[in-house]
Amino acid sequence: MDRFEPLRRRTIALVGLMGVGKSSVGRRLANALGLPFRDADAEVEAAAARSIPDIFAELGEPAFREGERRVIARLLDEEPHVLATGGGAFVDPKTRALIKAKAISIWLKTDLEVLARRVGRKDNRPLLAGKDPIEVLKSQAQARYPTYAEADITVETGDAAHHVTVDQLLRALDDYVEEHQP
Ligand code: S3P
Repeated sequence: MDRFEPLRRRTIALVGLMGVGKSSVGRRLANALGLPFRDADAEVEAAAARSIPDIFAELGEPAFREGERRVIARLLDEEPHVLATGGGAFVDPKTRALIKAKAISIWLKTDLEVLARRVGRKDNRPLLAGKDPIEVLKSQAQARYPTYAEADITVETGDAAHHVTVDQLLRALDDYVEEHQP
């Protein structure tokens, strides 16, 4: 049995604020484990045949959340994989219950200043459009951190390079799995 076999038995769902690296770190984590990678935002875009900014603009946020819930429910029924969720997914009670039931959840947590710097470079997030990223992130942190804390594992990543974060996640997963599925 290789070292990672116990980590390939359940889907690993990454949760946390925008810019924390759920997709970029998730893809590398999947590679390291030999698991498929799925990105919930990309799957929602494919299902709606629209970009996320267009979904928000044309259909509204409630329709986006509904689509997100359906897509994540479908993905959680697939074979084990690493799943990057959108920042609001785990906050939705139904989506959170599904993730808790079917996956190992990891909250990726990083200083808000680091996140603000990262998200400020992109314009693909409708919740940030025309706003000061740090202010949006502060209010999201206040509203969402108590819920993210319900994830099975919390990993504080700082501003580390992705491969450092992946090593951190592998250690945290090893510990979790050893304790919960010996
Ligand atoms: C959102 C985060 C985004 C995307 C949408 C809403 C949020 O995903 O799902 O713009 O509510 O925090 P990322 O966390 O991947 O940026």
